[in-house]
Amino acid sequence: MTDANHVFIFDTTLRDAEQTPGASLNVAEKLEVAQQLARLKVDIIEAGFPVSSNEDFEAVRRIGQEVEGPVICGLARAVAKDIDRAGEALKDAPNPRIHTFVGTSEIHLKGQMRKGQEEVLKMAVAAVVQAKSYCDDVEFSPMDAARTEPGYLFEVIEATIAAGATTINIPDTVGYAVPEEFGTLIEQIIAKVPNSDQAIISVHCHDDLGMAVINTLAAIKGGARQAECTINGLGERAGNASLEEIVMALKTRQDHFGYTTHVVSQEIISTSRLVSRLMGIAVQPNKAIVGANAFAHSSGIHQDGVIKQRNTFEIMEPKDVGLDDTEIVLTARSGRAALRHRLQVLGHELEQEELNRVYEIFVELADKKKEVFDKDLIEIVGGDPGESTDHYELQYLHSVSGTGTVPTATVRLRIGDQTVQQSAWGDGPVDAAYAAIGLACGTDIHVENYAIRAITSGSQALGEVTVHLSRAEEKVRGRGVSTDVIEASAKAYVDALNRLVLKSVKEEHQTV
Ligand code: KIV
Ligand code: ZN
Repeated sequence: MTDANHVFIFDTTLRDAEQTPGASLNVAEKLEVAQQLARLKVDIIEAGFPVSSNEDFEAVRRIGQEVEGPVICGLARAVAKDIDRAGEALKDAPNPRIHTFVGTSEIHLKGQMRKGQEEVLKMAVAAVVQAKSYCDDVEFSPMDAARTEPGYLFEVIEATIAAGATTINIPDTVGYAVPEEFGTLIEQIIAKVPNSDQAIISVHCHDDLGMAVINTLAAIKGGARQAECTINGLGERAGNASLEEIVMALKTRQDHFGYTTHVVSQEIISTSRLVSRLMGIAVQPNKAIVGANAFAHSSGIHQDGVIKQRNTFEIMEPKDVGLDDTEIVLTARSGRAALRHRLQVLGHELEQEELNRVYEIFVELADKKKEVFDKDLIEIVGGDPGESTDHYELQYLHSVSGTGTVPTATVRLRIGDQTVQQSAWGDGPVDAAYAAIGLACGTDIHVENYAIRAITSGSQALGEVTVHLSRAEEKVRGRGVSTDVIEASAKAYVDALNRLVLKSVKEEHQTV
């Protein structure tokens, strides 16, 4: 028996988000995302649209067979061949669901389908009946429900529930709804459709007006118990409601909403980074929950506050979404409190006078280089900024790429007191450089995330690369800047390698 306050999380990253231009994934990548979604403990994974291509069919089939835990769902238009294909793809899945849909708004009926209401109602019922012949768990969506005439919408919902639909999903297909109106629509469906208690009411909101998440939350308050959403809010056009925002809003404001989900929030960051990396779509830095700045404080007043007591400027704990800690970004705006705190973490306890001296050098450096990193601080307090303390140093980089050329790179690194040279090829010049550095340092390192931006303008712009690396459980971030983006990328990788060294040194100190 399900708790009345439980909200089912239906993830459609592999279907709706995968439609994003340039974001398509191959079968192996889809499986990797689905396995991670299972670790995140979403309730339902919409794995694809089997009739759309053989690859999508295969992805749904393999996810259905191999991914344990969530219900695996395949999408089908209210058309016989789509439903057969979805049924076939899911035939070996232990927990299958077929999700069938047809447009119901006058705009869709007249403008696209050229069919009348009666005919579409029959199509919807027939689709549900046919889907039921493959599995018990059938979801029906009256597409563009938010713009459908309510009387007709209620009729379609009643008929499809009577035909056996176990979930009725109300899509705001074009992101037109506003929260009060959408919440009221859900309340009315529950009040006016006589058999509405025999199905879960779900919502699927698009973000064209930036209201997908708030509309979803309003619908949940109105009685919806399934939220359709995607990782990083990706999806058709402006995207779908973001899974991480819905889940963390329900969790953080439990006092207000009073609903629960099964999602393991500590898996959110890994899932977001995986999807971003595989789909090749960077997450905007200020994106709620998963953006690089979501838990980073740069204002001196905020830094002072969180160091003294976290909840002065933080409403969520970084570890609750899978981050190690709050990030105190040391810039020229940082105060002595932030500097002292960072130095303490690095094992340097300074008297006030010494702190004042270090602070002066720090501000001077921060003015020059925007962000001051741990290794800069170590150099400042060590009093010998001229000599490199880095374990890894990029001494030489040569890369070759071009149309019809296999991208290759040769690197020479100083590693401690040794010099190592390696060459490799890759999917592009950056990949080739990373492969060569990986060979040179010989450790099992994964690139979790890679982002590049111009920090000055014009064709001579400085490119800044930020790369997140992981080695086993350890995660670090590196940064590199150059007018040559391949060099900036290699520098960022080497910077991250040095941080790994620093991290292990610090951990050793802590255990001694
Ligand atoms: O946005 C939409 O209406 C959809 C349906 C297929 C549910 O994605
Ligand atoms: Zn959609």
